[in-house]
Amino acid sequence: MITPYFRRETIGNCTLYLADCRSVLPDVEIDAVVTDPPFGIGYRSNYATDELWKAGRRIAGDECTALRDQVLAYFATKPCLVFGSWKAARPAGTRQILIWDKGGALGMGALDIPWKPDHEEIYVLGKGFIGRRDSGSVLKCPPVQSMAKNGRLHPNQKPVRLLRELVRKVPGTVFDPFMGVGSTGVACVELGRPFVGVEVEERFFDIACERIREASRQGDLLNEIVEPTADEGDELAKSGAA
Ligand SMILES: C[S@@+](CC[C@H](N)C(=O)[O-])C[C@H]1O[C@@H](n2cnc3c(N)ncnc32)[C@H](O)[C@@H]1O
Repeated sequence: MITPYFRRETIGNCTLYLADCRSVLPDVEIDAVVTDPPFGIGYRSNYATDELWKAGRRIAGDECTALRDQVLAYFATKPCLVFGSWKAARPAGTRQILIWDKGGALGMGALDIPWKPDHEEIYVLGKGFIGRRDSGSVLKCPPVQSMAKNGRLHPNQKPVRLLRELVRKVPGTVFDPFMGVGSTGVACVELGRPFVGVEVEERFFDIACERIREASRQGDLLNEIVEPTADEGDELAKSGAA
């Protein structure tokens, strides 16, 4: 029998695969996709100072958009929110573009152009979105600190706060086939949402497991503090505090 993944971890409501996501697609039962795939732009950092990143400066699957498009085609009928770059072709079926405004946190960009880049694109595909129409298409959120300052665990790590905004707009179990260090998973845990994530590189997968485990522990702690036991509930009710 062929095992379609190298490892599988279950943490609370989250199922995490160390795998090439294409090998688990037929097995996952999910309601929506929120993902930050390899953009298809051959990204390479010339400013890397972090050892992990120096060891493998390229992102797997980033040579072109074929991998992203193959995975998205599989979930064409589901609501999908997908990070991307204007430098690559947009996915087929894009219905709207959200702009992630990094709020004045400026990237390097081309040094001969007199404007520094400060935003990324997020593509809206499919149907079945939920939630209120409470904002425009520009989402403001500071990025995660650079690796040089030891803030980021992955060169393309996305802020959990931004991912929470996205997860709130899709139903049910959320799938991130390119989860990196698991930021979408952490957002799902914080919102009490089931999550399925896949990452092909073990060094990132291990960090994702740890972050999602930690987020679940924090959630459990919070529940212990917030939810009184049945007896405590009775006591509180008697004392009139409940
Ligand atoms: C842009 S990064 C995602 C970063 C993530 N948003 C975070 O905050 O950590 C894309 C990830 O997809 C992974 N990847 C590339 N090809 C893959 C494949 N075939 N299956 C699963 N993961 C893959 C890369 O190793 C990389 O970590």
